[in-house]
Amino acid sequence: MIRLAIRVARADAEIALAELLALAPAGVEEVDHGDTVEYAVYGAEGELPSLPDVRAAAGAALVDVTTTHVADDWASRWRDFHVPVTIGKRVHVRPPWCEPVGVAGGPGSDALLDIVIDPNQAFGTGAHATTRLCLEALLALPQHGGPLVDLGCGSGVLAIAAAKLGWGPVSGLDHEAAAVVAARENARANGVALDVRHGDLLHGDERAPSAPTVVANLLRPLLAHVARTGFAGEPPRTMIVSGLLRAEADAIAAAFEREQGLRERDRGELGEWAALTLVRADRPHA
Ligand SMILES: C[S@@+](CC[C@H](N)C(=O)[O-])C[C@H]1O[C@@H](n2cnc3c(N)ncnc32)[C@H](O)[C@@H]1O
Repeated sequence: MIRLAIRVARADAEIALAELLALAPAGVEEVDHGDTVEYAVYGAEGELPSLPDVRAAAGAALVDVTTTHVADDWASRWRDFHVPVTIGKRVHVRPPWCEPVGVAGGPGSDALLDIVIDPNQAFGTGAHATTRLCLEALLALPQHGGPLVDLGCGSGVLAIAAAKLGWGPVSGLDHEAAAVVAARENARANGVALDVRHGDLLHGDERAPSAPTVVANLLRPLLAHVARTGFAGEPPRTMIVSGLLRAEADAIAAAFEREQGLRERDRGELGEWAALTLVRADRPHA
């Protein structure tokens, strides 16, 4: 097993991480070295991103790239950074190898909702700032319920949380076959019904599927594309968009308002990341 480690300058680490996650959607191990940050992925020969791709992703932030052969405990080290997270004292997202805490409740219950996510090869353990911001924004919505679409569902973490919080029917879409499989398996493991479809928001013929509530944890270029090309049906009444760096949020908010009539109502920030809650200008109650 090989450990591919990329060391980047701390000042640009979040930007480099955003690019690296496109190459390693299941996540990366993070090691703090003071002025630099090391991100590492594990895999067999041929499974890892190529060195030129990694160098391009890290861009000007790159300090060095190293590859080392690691011993058989790589699997447990890989697991070490899929840590459980509790969001808003309401949702507890954990990997299958961690014990549940509290009592799992249903929609409307005050209990901590237990969500088990095995990310496998898909993005979305709950621990990443962009996912946490989406979960916080979902929890903060004044009304829970009705149909919801999760664009770029990855492991299904947001769609599953939404289903457990009372939304339904819930559907998800992702262009990665591994994400579709992971989201379906995770839905089964959590006992919720999800309609997970394989589709490409960028290159498909159809526009983005819509519902009264849409969550989209995608990177800026894809959000800009959705803002420009719009939805297959009416634009959502409420849309949560994440995967944005703070500096990118104003432009994306302006694009959704101009193109889709969705106005910013809330903004959450965590580290370098930002997420927006947008509401349809003609339906400001949502
Ligand atoms: C940042 S991850 C979000 C995963 C999960 N929703 C979460 O919040 O943790 C973005 C997801 O979008 C998917 N994605 C990226 N480009 C896409 C495209 N063109 N069409 C559909 N899905 C895409 C990726 O495969 C990935 O699973």
